[in-house]
Amino acid sequence: MTKISVSRLAKMKQENEKITCITAYDASFAAIFDQAGIQVLLIGDSLGMVLQGHDSTLPVTVDDIQYHTQSVARSASNALIISDLPFMSYATPQQSYQNAAILMRAGANMVKLEGGAWLAESVKGLVERGIPVCGHLGLTPQSVNVFGGYKVQGREDDQADLLIRDALMLEKSGIQLLVLECVPVPLAARVSKALQIPVIGIGAGSETDGQILVMHDAFGISAGFCPKFSKNFLIETGDIRSAVALYKEQVENGSFPSSEHSFY
Ligand code: KIV
Repeated sequence: MTKISVSRLAKMKQENEKITCITAYDASFAAIFDQAGIQVLLIGDSLGMVLQGHDSTLPVTVDDIQYHTQSVARSASNALIISDLPFMSYATPQQSYQNAAILMRAGANMVKLEGGAWLAESVKGLVERGIPVCGHLGLTPQSVNVFGGYKVQGREDDQADLLIRDALMLEKSGIQLLVLECVPVPLAARVSKALQIPVIGIGAGSETDGQILVMHDAFGISAGFCPKFSKNFLIETGDIRSAVALYKEQVENGSFPSSEHSFY
């Protein structure tokens, strides 16, 4: 298998092939996901919640993401590796360049940042400096205090129109992938059609170009809360490798996410 590139992901969108992504934080799980043919591994700042036990992603540092990126990169040879720039590590373009460089040196192939049009200068600057960028819109967990909780975004027409404008602006600035989190299915479908680049959904229905889940949610082992949009693939299969294969199969054949995992 050859290493997945951003152009391969773009081609998958053109050919209507669904992209399967999952978070990974260590070498052992990264190897399992990589061998299963998962195209994208995300070292998400969700590690603050599922590994460290915080109630938000805000305490996560660049050092944390660097450490877990190094672990994942050592064992994932095929999947594209994306690392999250954590809260306040890209507040200015200069900060985004410095911190993205740390994550790329740790083994990332792309960095992800949360937010809309205000990121245009950083995105353009990162891409000009050789760093591929993934955007993240909708429920952006680093802004949980602004939203007043983990709530579905884009339900109102003006919110939905703003999200589409942000997505187009980020694409124009140079992002090559977009994560769309917790938005109603029709809005996710609109965004996926409006953009040339692949749109990866989480809690955004089945009409996006691919799906991502936090691995602990996909195995039903998150402490406490399991989001409505997730599914426990382990309970159906009883074995981690089979659970990963089932997740990939259901993303590819469009049966996950179903309406019970989606917002309208
Ligand atoms: O941090 C993370 O795991 C993420 C996913 C939820 C997309 O950003």
